[in-house]
Amino acid sequence: MQQKWWHGKTAYQIYPRSFKDSNGDGVGDLPGIIEKIPYLAELGIELLWISPIYKSPFADMGYDISDYQDIDPVFGSMEDFKRLKAEADKYGIGIIMDLVVNHCSDEHEWFKKACADPSCKEASYFIIREGKDGKVPNNLRANFGGSVWDKLPGHDNLYYCHFFHKKQPDLDWFNPELRQKIYEMMNWWLVDMGIAGFRVDAIMCIGKDPSYPQYEPDDVGDGMCSCGKMNSDNVDVAINFLHEMNEQTFRKHDKFAVGEVFGISKENVADFIGDNGVFSSIFDFSAREALTGHYCFYGFEKLSVARYREVVFAAQETAGDCGFLAPVIENHDEPRGVSTWLPPMWHNAKGAKALGTVNLTLKGIPFIFQGQELGMLNTRFDNIDELDDCQSKDQYAMCKAHGLSETVTMQVLNDQARDHGRVPMSWDDSEYAGFSTVKPWMKVNQDKDTVNVATEAKDPDSVLNYYRKLIKLRRDPQYKEIFTYGEFVPMDDPNGHTLAYLRRTSDRTIMVVANFGAWPVQFPVNESSTILLSSDRVKVENNQLTVAEGSSAIVLL
Ligand code: GLC
Repeated sequence: MQQKWWHGKTAYQIYPRSFKDSNGDGVGDLPGIIEKIPYLAELGIELLWISPIYKSPFADMGYDISDYQDIDPVFGSMEDFKRLKAEADKYGIGIIMDLVVNHCSDEHEWFKKACADPSCKEASYFIIREGKDGKVPNNLRANFGGSVWDKLPGHDNLYYCHFFHKKQPDLDWFNPELRQKIYEMMNWWLVDMGIAGFRVDAIMCIGKDPSYPQYEPDDVGDGMCSCGKMNSDNVDVAINFLHEMNEQTFRKHDKFAVGEVFGISKENVADFIGDNGVFSSIFDFSAREALTGHYCFYGFEKLSVARYREVVFAAQETAGDCGFLAPVIENHDEPRGVSTWLPPMWHNAKGAKALGTVNLTLKGIPFIFQGQELGMLNTRFDNIDELDDCQSKDQYAMCKAHGLSETVTMQVLNDQARDHGRVPMSWDDSEYAGFSTVKPWMKVNQDKDTVNVATEAKDPDSVLNYYRKLIKLRRDPQYKEIFTYGEFVPMDDPNGHTLAYLRRTSDRTIMVVANFGAWPVQFPVNESSTILLSSDRVKVENNQLTVAEGSSAIVLL
């Protein structure tokens, strides 16, 4: 594997609407992020992914971009962005912007021109087709529900394609001119603005079949087929485009790119993250994929720890020494990791620390989502009005249409909604959690009195201080090499609730154990083995490592 400047770094994701409000409008902004850069530096972060801050009508919270080269006024200005970049530079933190190029917004000038004149150049940037017998061109279902086709405004028998919200028209990647426009925009951010790289959004959706055939309906019963089917049948199409993107942007300028990619396998992993792969890394969504077995999330069932271990370890094995995954436990599209992956008895600080140990010691480039380092849990939503996300609203309607009661529907959302990752970051225990001086756009988390930065910073045993130690250990010059490049070797699980593995280089071995069971577990170690870090009760005695329930250990063998 070729060594790269991003190897060994720890990344952090900011959801800018909910990170820190500096101007008292209840919405997070760039000056808010600038204010908190020293906090991120103290945590040990070296790469900072910021979810979209571009101009947007916010139909999908900024993932619908109306101008790729401007900042939305709700977040600030281009001047603010430059100040943010300068502040991040001071602390050696690289900025990663979100690249959303499967689609843009219907308020982007290209789409407005397309509507005004479907024969214009900009119209060819979109996927516009004639209807068939007065109906939509084919039977694909969008990711947010309904057909992928909507009438092109102002035209009777013309439809445009959108794999997400109807305000997110898909771009036609088969158009070479459009692709060049995208690469130019990317290089402007990468080179002129000097960012470290991109997180590449929903990118496998560009793998399309331009003939838009009719699909065999899936088991949902609406005569449609999930648009994901077209994507999974056309992975090679996406990979080809992405090779071109990589050559013309990331590789050319030695920049970082992490892809939002689902469905990796031994066969295709090198295409994504090998030395000649299209990305520097891709998120490890193996647990999420194992969880989402159903089109609608009322099929939701928790994974056992044993299953979580199985799929996460399998992903590590799939990546092997080919390249780096990006381990994650949560993001802005997910409920909180501790609430989702752990048994209820560990929905607390102990569980958060032990899961953090796993997140930060698996092989790869770990991403921490804002608030994860505090051990934030899911937010309790009492009614649908407390949720904002378009997907949640859709799912609420779908549950209701299927006859689910209000109580069951709200339970589904409390288990699964994307909104959990979108509530304000808890900075202190004040009314609005130190996020804002006014009522924020989303409700604050019910645990903010205890789970917040100010309180945790003072407590040496807090989740926050544990994350600081974890990242410090990863960055320690003595161990950086082994945490970065050390082989991942799975170990057996003695109680069905433990993740245990080795990280190994030619001259040393580190053992990691995280016990999510109800009793202690033991592993044989050496006489000279030393505990580098433990999250709770852990001891080495008589060549035995004992890790108490709800604890984790990192041991140098
Ligand atoms: C990605 C984003 C998600 C967004 C979708 C469409 O999955 O993470 O928030 O809704 O793409 O852009």
